[in-house]
Amino acid sequence: MSQRTEGKIAIVTGAASGVGKEDALLLAREGARVVLTDLNEEAGHALAREIGETALFVPHDIASEAGWQQVMARTEKQFGAPSVLVNNAAILLLGSVEDATLEQWQRVMRINADGYFLGCKYGVAAMKAGGGSIVNMSSVAALGGMGAFCAYSASKGAVAALTRAVAGHCKQSGYRIRCNSIHPDGILTPMTAAFLPGGATALPEEVGGAEPMQRMCHPRDVANLVLFLASDESRFINGAELRIDNAQTIMGVA
Ligand SMILES: NC(=O)c1ccc[n+]([C@@H]2O[C@H](COP(=O)([O-])OP(=O)(O)OC[C@H]3O[C@@H](n4cnc5c(N)ncnc54)[C@H](O)[C@@H]3O)[C@@H](O)[C@H]2O)c1
Repeated sequence: MSQRTEGKIAIVTGAASGVGKEDALLLAREGARVVLTDLNEEAGHALAREIGETALFVPHDIASEAGWQQVMARTEKQFGAPSVLVNNAAILLLGSVEDATLEQWQRVMRINADGYFLGCKYGVAAMKAGGGSIVNMSSVAALGGMGAFCAYSASKGAVAALTRAVAGHCKQSGYRIRCNSIHPDGILTPMTAAFLPGGATALPEEVGGAEPMQRMCHPRDVANLVLFLASDESRFINGAELRIDNAQTIMGVA
């Protein structure tokens, strides 16, 4: 059995659901010890139990600086210094520039932008001695902009620019820390299920059919890219924006 993240200590935010859950399962399967964080304590603890003694769940609000300090302290105590950080947790709120309120905009920015800034800040501090890989979940919304999701699109643009700034700073500082962003189109997760024809009850496997080039992106498709970026196989990929959208963006329909 291949062990592509053997010896890694990985933190995955938003690990109780969707993409984060698949990331955590795959990184653990490939040999990493994983720290799962989420607001959803019940599902987070359940996943950590499912993975076993190589997993730890820490309740966490990514927008809280004290929360990040606690995640880093508990990671260090349980497993040692982290070498992988997957900034994955985020929220999606519907609202065009005309419909969205300032309160909605600020709520999205607090989680999707402030939360990623704090993750990178504490991630770099924890990794600068030993090196590592930071993977930031952005979206095609950062590249094209989605009219119906104004604040979300802007927050994902902030994540993309933050990623480049972090990669550049780490390289200039001589740290062995890579930082890359991932830009998926629609993925079948609880975040998007509410907007799909079968609604929130539609299960990923049931929507879109089995034909790989026609169906929507599955969380596992994204987890495979996260695994690659977490592993040393991607050691020369740094400051990159990786689209995972089955050509939707270049067809101008994203
Ligand atoms: N689903 C898509 O179509 C899609 C497309 C492009 C990008 N993305 C990005 O992928 C990532 C994962 O999305 P998903 O579809 O798996 O979403 P999801 O809603 O299934 O899971 C998100 C998880 O984050 C947690 N979370 C939310 N706010 C949090 C906070 N403040 N602190 C800690 N945890 C918090 C939630 O409890 C949930 O478990 C997100 O960054 C999202 O923007 C998703």
